[in-house]
Amino acid sequence: MRILGIETSCDETGVAIYDEQQGLMADVLYSQIALHAEYGGVIPELASRDHVRKLLPLIQQVLDEADCSVADLDGIAYTAGPGLVGALMVGAATAQSLAYAWKKPAVAVHHMEGHLLAPMLEDNPPEFPLVALLVSGGHTQLVLVERMGEYQLLGESLDDAAGEAFDKTAKMLGLPYPGGPAVAKMAEQGDDSRFDFPRPMIGKPGLDFSFSGLKTFTLNTRQKFAEDISEQDKADICACFQRAVVETLSLKCKRALKQTGCRRLLIAGGVSANTALRECLEAMVAKLNGELFYARPSLCTDNGAMIAYAGMQRLKAEQFADLGIQVRPRWPLSELPSLTSNKKIG
Ligand code: KG4
Ligand code: ZN
Repeated sequence: MRILGIETSCDETGVAIYDEQQGLMADVLYSQIALHAEYGGVIPELASRDHVRKLLPLIQQVLDEADCSVADLDGIAYTAGPGLVGALMVGAATAQSLAYAWKKPAVAVHHMEGHLLAPMLEDNPPEFPLVALLVSGGHTQLVLVERMGEYQLLGESLDDAAGEAFDKTAKMLGLPYPGGPAVAKMAEQGDDSRFDFPRPMIGKPGLDFSFSGLKTFTLNTRQKFAEDISEQDKADICACFQRAVVETLSLKCKRALKQTGCRRLLIAGGVSANTALRECLEAMVAKLNGELFYARPSLCTDNGAMIAYAGMQRLKAEQFADLGIQVRPRWPLSELPSLTSNKKIG
């Protein structure tokens, strides 16, 4: 079976073709970073309009690159949520229209299920059960995955997501958008023991997170320098901030593994591309005789491949979307039906 996947939930237009036998046949991405950079963050209306401009040419491009005709496709998957409503509507309207015209099933995909399953596209995919740490611009969640398609929320951020904290830290230091990669790069030159950043909520039991205190700590540290801040000072703030986030995430992951008895940890979402996070978690998991799974960096941030892969699982389960253009800007992952259920999605 073969599926077209369309991702438009935020500021990247991603399109891919995934084939069960041949794997990923084509995967293209158009990033809107340059468009939003001058505003220091995503402007939703501009994002929607840019998806409109780019989506159809990208769909044509993947069909050409994969040497795939419409007749070879068994379904069309699109991100139905969570995300920016206008941006989601562009993907949903396009996918539903093509599915109707081409007489193929449309499949509504949950963006975070897409992220979570991205490591399945790698050579050494994990088996289940596992604990997943989802760390993106909008979400920080720990999820128990007994089997593919069944997600039990163990804990989540009570305020900012980890990626959002990276983005806000970058903004306070005058670094470019998106902040995560910029902070990570600066942190490489920094002294991660110069400032005593807090480790939020580690003293409390449970698996929830809170990152807004770190943001305030960054702001206060930044303000002490007024106009005199040097590049080295900025690098030191980045290094200390990143270490605080990474150590906090690692501690909660360890707690989740112990609590569930799982030995596999999967990380996914934009922040899972972070090298310091990967290294810290590798070391933590090794001490527990466990295993860590993640995708290559281009499959950690938003992309069409993960939507095609997750869409394939829902297509095989015959969980087709009804004809209609419906999106869910807010959508808890735990509401997804299991892959053996005959419930519809979207
Ligand atoms: O998963 P994603 O592409 O989009 C959402 O679903 O939100 O995640 C984007 C987030 C942004 O906050 C970005 O700054 C962060 O992931 N990010 C990183 C890195 N690469 C992307 N954060 C830390 N280190 C990175 N290397
Ligand atoms: Zn994402």
